[in-house]
Amino acid sequence: MGGFHSEAAAGVSVTTDDPNWWDGAVGYEVYVRSFADSDGDGVGDLEGIRRRLPHLAWLGVDIVWLTPFYPSPMADFGYDVSDYEAVHPLFGDMADFDRLVSDAHDLGLRVVIDIVPNHTSNRHPWFVDARSSPGAARRDWYIWRDPGPDGGPPNNWWSVFGGPAWTLDPGTGQYYLHLFLPEQPDLNWANPEVREAFVGILRFWLERGVDGFRIDVAHALAKDPGLRDLPQHCRADESMHRTEAWMCFDHIHDIDQPEVHEIYREWADLAAGYEAVLVGEVYLLRPSQVVPYVKPRGHLDLAFAFAPMHMAYDPSAYRRLFGRFTELADRGIAWVQCSHDEPRSVTRFGGGDLGRRRALALSVLMMGLPGVPWLYQGEELALEDGKVPVDRIVDPVGRIHPEDSRDGCRTPMPWEEGPGMGFTTGEPWLPMDDRDGGDTVAVQKRDPGSWLNRYRRLISVRHEIDRFARPDSIEWIESPTQVVAYRRGPVLVMANMADEPVAVTSPPGKWQVRYSTGRGLPGGSIPPTLGGAEALIAVRD
Ligand code: NOJ
Repeated sequence: MGGFHSEAAAGVSVTTDDPNWWDGAVGYEVYVRSFADSDGDGVGDLEGIRRRLPHLAWLGVDIVWLTPFYPSPMADFGYDVSDYEAVHPLFGDMADFDRLVSDAHDLGLRVVIDIVPNHTSNRHPWFVDARSSPGAARRDWYIWRDPGPDGGPPNNWWSVFGGPAWTLDPGTGQYYLHLFLPEQPDLNWANPEVREAFVGILRFWLERGVDGFRIDVAHALAKDPGLRDLPQHCRADESMHRTEAWMCFDHIHDIDQPEVHEIYREWADLAAGYEAVLVGEVYLLRPSQVVPYVKPRGHLDLAFAFAPMHMAYDPSAYRRLFGRFTELADRGIAWVQCSHDEPRSVTRFGGGDLGRRRALALSVLMMGLPGVPWLYQGEELALEDGKVPVDRIVDPVGRIHPEDSRDGCRTPMPWEEGPGMGFTTGEPWLPMDDRDGGDTVAVQKRDPGSWLNRYRRLISVRHEIDRFARPDSIEWIESPTQVVAYRRGPVLVMANMADEPVAVTSPPGKWQVRYSTGRGLPGGSIPPTLGGAEALIAVRD
């Protein structure tokens, strides 16, 4: 990133000679509905985000990813798009969008927007046309099949959200495919017209100045041309936990098909002309499955690594995972432990002070790695999941299985004390009355020892070390089993993942602590013990 930040701080708009400007950056996810509401309707909007951009610049992140803000019937809160080239009135209008991008650039922030190419809303005019008759102009933009011999679905594919991945359209007597809700019909990416339409959509936003795209369900666009049955090990039904049901199948024909890479080759050529970044939501857990999507083997610049969201807090598992990823991938991994789809890591790690310390220690480990560490809004405040009573659940997944609801991680940002907590002057769309002053940006900002200030310092150290932490290859340091420790060039990262203190030995040479979550003071040498869930970053003197 080099001079990118200082230029921005001087008020110069974003320009850089580096076509790989995201290399070494830190990303931040804004869940648009829950970040900041400017008009008092209880739902976050683009103008609200614009007004809060200074927080993000102060925090030190470089890339802001906006979740979908397009017109949508909101069956899946915006991931069911009914117009890809407009702004939902709930979130503002195109002028608000332009102002947001322009202010972000003035502050040195890049804007990445969500693109949802696997499926549209069932109310998108394309699908409305497609379902109007078997001969409709856009019929083949979606995936239609006759019923199976028993009149049921054409094959055994299962939806990520539970239930068969097929819905019968009574009007035309055929089933259509949807890997998510029935309100989210899958597009047929084997049809060149669909490809052409999306190239036009990407170009539309690139011309408006966006700096890249986060590609929703990036691993699923291409399907087996024969739509063959999946090998199945157990009977899946809708009463099962959705992940358990999904795991009854070997997903060898529905996702991660080789043809998907062709799509991104075309997108990468387009993005390169605008120096835009392509970040894939490649929701595959094994490093060997994710890495083929990113350069140099694939065509995306970055792919999220989601495995850390699905692991126990186990040092050997992290060592294995980070080791494998960094062995296989260049600098193409975006490291995340939270998102708008999974319980917040503080909650997953047991909540309270220990959960918070564990989450920060994992962040320290991620901040030392090559690639792009990424925070989810509120992670910098060490928030636990919000409490959403069952009768207030609105997430379509949570309405079927409340224990699986994604609303808890989506409750609004607590900015300051008082009604609406600086998020809204109205009634927030999800409850936030379980938050207290200590959770807010305003209170934490005043306290130098707060989580917010600790995350901010960590981001600043990350920027500082990433410049000279070469080569990328990481070298694991022999340490007690509870400790994860690695070196990347002259940088040393160490985390005690146990809850009790552990004795550690400093590797040979003289090391100076640059960042510590505990007692190792910046400027000092590596302490002889690390406290429970304590982590540090040191550099060779
Ligand atoms: C991934 C998104 O993050 C999630 O919120 C959404 O429900 C699915 N993709 C379907 O678009």
